[in-house]
Amino acid sequence: MNSEKAAHTPAPRGRFITFEGGEGAGKSTQVQRLVAALQARGIETVATREPGGSPNAEALRKVLLSGLVAPLGPAAEAMIFCAARIDHIDNLIAPALARGAFVVCDRFADSTRAYQGALGKLSDQFIDGLERVTIGDTKPDLTFMLDLPAEEGLARAGKRRGAEAVDRFEAENIDFHRALRTSFRAIAEKNPQRCVLIDATRTMDEIAADIWHATEQRLLLDVRA
Ligand code: TYD
Repeated sequence: MNSEKAAHTPAPRGRFITFEGGEGAGKSTQVQRLVAALQARGIETVATREPGGSPNAEALRKVLLSGLVAPLGPAAEAMIFCAARIDHIDNLIAPALARGAFVVCDRFADSTRAYQGALGKLSDQFIDGLERVTIGDTKPDLTFMLDLPAEEGLARAGKRRGAEAVDRFEAENIDFHRALRTSFRAIAEKNPQRCVLIDATRTMDEIAADIWHATEQRLLLDVRA
């Protein structure tokens, strides 16, 4: 009954920040920079990622990124991402928020909506239902959508990867990656209170400055003087 447990997690006292975007958008660097900036302000901050973030979820990450689950179809794949997410919430995210920490997560539920949605044309109702039973009250307070053209992101991801093999999602065709971008932008447009669209074609420093400014404006002014 993990999902029910997740659905009844008490309202968080800390703040939950997520980073989203397609391949090669530079999320991991920006997660590290934001975590360092929050810690420099004396705020306990936990950096984590999805799929993964807890031992059980990291085990599922291996299965998901190997492509082993792909033949089951996008609905089943989405459910396994959600199974990993429930464990991550129960064992890492919710306890950290409950003790007042900030949690900064590289990908979260918007990735399921965009990736599994773009792969399989899953209905909004299906994704909404999954999201409700999986995350319950553990909704992000702030989400940065790192936005750049699919071609540019894939080229950057290819450079970073070097000789390693592409993973299950990077291997999808360019139309898939374009659909992903459209989907992330639509999520940002639909949720302006939560989401900030970031132009990720700029330098790391420019992007980090925008992210810090938005974090201060949206979260730090009201929680800690
Ligand atoms: P990762 O190597 O962490 O990629 P990135 O650096 O782009 O974040 O692999 C995570 C992959 O899993 C990425 O291609 C996006 C995909 N994914 C989904 O398809 N659905 C999800 O719900 C999540 C969290 C990730």
